[in-house]
Amino acid sequence: MTILDPQFLNELDGHRPTVAPGLLSKQEKDAVIERSFLGLYRWYVSRSQKTRNWNPDTDFDWRSLRTDHSAKLNTIIEGFFAVEQYVPDYVLTLLRVIRQSHGRSHFHIRWGSEEEKHAELWENSLLFSRFRTPEWITEYKHTLREKAWELPWDNPLHMIFYTVIQERATQVNYLNTGLIATGKSDNPDFANETDPVLARAAQMIAVDEAAHYNFFLEGARLYLYYYPAQALDALYDVIKFFAMPAGNLIPDYDKFAEVVAQAGVYGPREHLRDVVDIALKTMDVTGRSALFKGIKRVRQVPHPDGTMHDTAVFDLLDYAGVASKVRKLFGRIADYEKLIGFDAIYPTQFVPSGLE
Ligand SMILES: [Fe+2]
Ligand SMILES: [Fe+2]
Repeated sequence: MTILDPQFLNELDGHRPTVAPGLLSKQEKDAVIERSFLGLYRWYVSRSQKTRNWNPDTDFDWRSLRTDHSAKLNTIIEGFFAVEQYVPDYVLTLLRVIRQSHGRSHFHIRWGSEEEKHAELWENSLLFSRFRTPEWITEYKHTLREKAWELPWDNPLHMIFYTVIQERATQVNYLNTGLIATGKSDNPDFANETDPVLARAAQMIAVDEAAHYNFFLEGARLYLYYYPAQALDALYDVIKFFAMPAGNLIPDYDKFAEVVAQAGVYGPREHLRDVVDIALKTMDVTGRSALFKGIKRVRQVPHPDGTMHDTAVFDLLDYAGVASKVRKLFGRIADYEKLIGFDAIYPTQFVPSGLE
């Protein structure tokens, strides 16, 4: 047998590692991402139960809700109610895509149980404000549910970024509505809307949305850390084509969108400044324009050592920043597991990506 013997070359090739030394294989990356989702989910549930276990009926003094809000504020509340009505679709559709991930799918069920309360809370607001009769609400729910919401992307990677942006946008909507209800809006149209019950409702939900945003943010960081090129690609798509859920299903959605924008609650300006820019910054992506310019330059190029590297990724991403936050996440999971005793049996352990 000579060195050029094809059988020998094939055999040699079979022994060659498929990934460069120090880098993780796809299976290894997927396994560590899955483990961290599971740890994060467990931590999340314990915190959710301790700090946000509110009830949409009994935790509010609904009889004291004002019944003389402006038509504009009522339109805003009705729009929130309509968007949160599609929670069965939000759960069902994404659950099919992520069902193989224990951590992510079980989180999603928990997430759905929190979103379901938001729908109830806005229904109570519509009802007790006397803006809509019970019969009207029943009929409206029927109309809304005749159509079903569909996923904007049917893969787990795009959807983690979609949910980051969507949760942040929802949080901004509710925080700004809370400002109106506490008399802090600088828009003169909303100068006389102070309502402690509505303020409490908006703030309570905004805290939930912040918790959701943080969960998805941690998940997004895992992908940015272990799959930076693919993750930035997905993030680019999501930012470019993002639309709030159910806008195409809700009757007269354009009117609602116009009122929330004009109110300074959520419009194109708030979306870019308070949602996209903040989310990108928090994910250590260095600016919207850099992302849009740079993503076209992400290519795999061979390095002298024979490994393939992604160009531009590290121009777009503060990778050290992402890495330090991912390490912190593993630290938080480890602390939680120590509390329970998981650490002695099967601890979630940090695995470096090899790209640092
Ligand atoms: Fe919600
Ligand atoms: Fe949410």
